[in-house]
This record gives sequence, structure tokens and C-alpha cells, in this order.
Amino acid sequence: MSNKLWAGRFSKQLDNTVNDFNSSIRFDCRMYKQDITASIAHADMLGKCGIISADDSEKIKAGLKTILTDIESGKLDIDFSAEDIHTFVEAELTERIGDAGKKLHTARSRNDQVAVDFKLTLRDEAENIYTLLTELINVICDNAEKYADTVMPGYTHLQRAQPITFGHALMTYAMMLLRDMSRLDDWKKRMNVSPLGSGALAGTTHPIDREMTAKALGFSDYTRNSLDGVSDRDYAIELASVLSLIMMHLSRFSEEIILYCSWEFKFIELDDAYATGSSMMPQKKNPDITELVRGKTGRVYGDLTTLLTMMKGLPLAYNKDMQEDKEAAFDALDTVKMCLEVFTPMLRTMTVNAANMRNAAAKGFINATDCADYLVKKGMPFRTAYKLTGELVFHCIENGKALEELTLEQFRSFSELFDDGIYTAIDLDECAKKRISQGGTAPDSVREQIEWTRNQIK
Ligand code: ARG
Repeated sequence: MSNKLWAGRFSKQLDNTVNDFNSSIRFDCRMYKQDITASIAHADMLGKCGIISADDSEKIKAGLKTILTDIESGKLDIDFSAEDIHTFVEAELTERIGDAGKKLHTARSRNDQVAVDFKLTLRDEAENIYTLLTELINVICDNAEKYADTVMPGYTHLQRAQPITFGHALMTYAMMLLRDMSRLDDWKKRMNVSPLGSGALAGTTHPIDREMTAKALGFSDYTRNSLDGVSDRDYAIELASVLSLIMMHLSRFSEEIILYCSWEFKFIELDDAYATGSSMMPQKKNPDITELVRGKTGRVYGDLTTLLTMMKGLPLAYNKDMQEDKEAAFDALDTVKMCLEVFTPMLRTMTVNAANMRNAAAKGFINATDCADYLVKKGMPFRTAYKLTGELVFHCIENGKALEELTLEQFRSFSELFDDGIYTAIDLDECAKKRISQGGTAPDSVREQIEWTRNQIK
């Protein structure tokens, strides 16, 4: 006879290799707390609806609580030969309280049980990501405040384009991460619906109250179709997609940090506690954290692809394929969590070489647009001013000069509209300071962005 909970139908023990292959306890044991919490809500509802006696309901709830305490204190070890966490907890309960334990699974299937456990776990763990994102945005705002006046070259095509402030550049990442937080909010609204009570697939003949368990577990509603309740994994896919976006943002940020740490730029330097050396080259200081974040982005995309592919073409309702959902979702969560935990302090402790930024901004004619705008303000049509400034730049390149190094006569040989004012107009600090349009790079505008962002995450 089999020793499984489904033993009745079987005449033999499950093959050992198949047992290992089939078991999910190594990764779903992570949901022990959520499994017990959901079972307590279920047992409570069974008692209140008169499906089991009030006495049995109390015994079950008390038994489950002792199991939770014992797992948490280390008194009870999880048995990794069990089929999954659900089976383990139920068997342990019956071991502890006897026959009443055998009534817990009334009007429930592991199919709705695993769905509710998984949702509760993802909801809890996404909350951690939310907090970590808030911390990172706060550090970005602090740094942006510090460097709101620090002029650097802004790039397009990685070619020097227009002067910006480093604070402005930093706030870009705060905007991306704010959107990620709002994606998590949206996700939670959609996913926070209880599948408990869907049964195996078709519901149950017992007079259950799904609203009661949904409420007890902090869900805003219960799923309205039992087949959908047990066969839906959209929420895992959506979460992995939000996590992929977070990683994409972190990897863009990482790439810029890697670039800015190079000797070719030397715009920033990482704190020694957040950089690493080389085994052979004594001079090296490498930005390994950011490279790993960039690398791990692929891993999280992989988790998303795993989930999407696993669900593709699955017939209704539960299929064992779906057991593969947990490792992928947990890996994505763990990876993002780990990345955020190192990224935030790394950013907090990095130092900025404002002189190098300023120096790089002084080369590459990044004030050319301002020169053209100067002529426009004097009455020249923009396209004409644009062409004339292009000719000025060409002249400067030929003569190894920057725009601001031309004499007034030289400027005036291109257009009579030039006067002394051109030098202020193309001064780099002025160029940045004047971009006060909403969302622009001017220090005042950056400070507004910081204030707005801080209000968003309050
Ligand atoms: N360990 C399973 C999972 O993670 C639980 C659900 C099993 N249900 C079943 N009918 N075999 O998906």
C-alpha cells in the first residue's frame, strides 16, 4: 500500500526517483506560513458554516498554530521526502490532533490551496520589493539634491548633446522606479482575489462561504469562476514582468555607472566597500555590483519566459506543469531583492567628480543649441540659426577652438546679430540654469522634480 494521502487508489509505493521528481517541497516549503494561515481561515469557515463541528474547527486551528510556532522555532523540521508543503502540514496536523485533522481538507483541493498559498506569498514578498524601491528612490533624491547644480554633458547616441545637471540625470531613474511602484500597485489590485473555495475545479457541494475566507486572508474579493480560480497564473507572470522592468531599469542605471567609473570618464567613484579588485592587476577597482545587476537582468527575463512558456497551451484547469511556477517566481523575487539591497547603499556611498563632469561638458560643442537659440531670440528663424551655428562649429573644429573662445569680431563675421551677450548665452552653467521648462535640467526644475517625487512615495 502507498503511504501517500491519495494512497487508496494505489497498490504500490511510488518509485523513489519519481517521488523526488514529483515533489515540490524543497521550494514550496517557503510558503509554510501562508499555507497554515490559509488553512486556519478555511477551518474557521468550515466551523462557522456548520460543515465541521465548532470543536473540530477549534482543534484544527490550535493544532495549525502549534505547527507554525514549531517550524518557526526550529522544533519541527520540514520533511523533504513529503510531496509538498500542503501534504506535509496536513499529515503533521493529523499526527498531532488525530481524527479532527482529517477534516481540514473538507471542501478544498490542493489546487485551490496551492493557488491561494502562492498568491499570499507573492503578495507578501512583493511588499518587500515595494519597500526596497522606496528606499532606493529616497537615496536617488538625496543624491540629486546634492548634485542639482553639477553640470555634465547630456548624451544622445552616447555623443555629447546638451549640458545637463547630474541631479537631473539621477532623477530619470527615480521616475522609472516610480512607474515600477505604480505597476506593483496595479498588479496587487488585480491579483488580490481569493481562489480558495474553487475546489479541484468545479466548486463544492458543501455550503462554504468564500467571502468569509477571502476577507480573513486580506483579499478584496473571491474569484468568480472556479475553473479560472485554479487555472490562473496570470498574477505570477505579471509580477515577473514588473520585476523584469525593474531589472531593465537597474541595468540601464548600472551601465551608466560602469561607464562613468571608467578612466575614460571618471565622473564617479564607488566606495571601496562597494567595489572589487582583480587577482592579477593590482591597480584595478571594478564595479562588479553593477555588472552583476546587469547580468542578473537576463536571469529575471528568463524567469518571465519560463512562466509564459509553461502556461502556453495548457488546457483547463490545474495541470502539474504549473508546479514549475514557484521556482521561477521566487527566483525573480530573490534576484530583484538581492540587487536592490546592494544597489541602494552603493549609490548612497558613491562620490562624484564634478570637475571631470564639468570638463567633459566644456568640450564637444554642447552649447551649440544655445548659440542657435541666442540668434533665434535676436529674430533669426531657427533653421537659419541652426545652419549658421553649424558653420561656426565647423570653423571652430578647423581651428581647434571652442565656441566660447571665438572673439566677438569672429562671431560677427558670421552674423551681425551677435553682441557681447553671446558669451553669457553659451556659458555652460547658464545653459543648464536657463532650462527651467517643466521637467527641464535647471537646478530649480530638478529641485521641483525631487519634491514631487518625495510626495509620490510618502
Ligand atoms: N505541489 C503542487 C503544486 O505546486 C500542489 C498542487 C497539486 N495538485 C495536484 N492535483 N496534484 O502545484
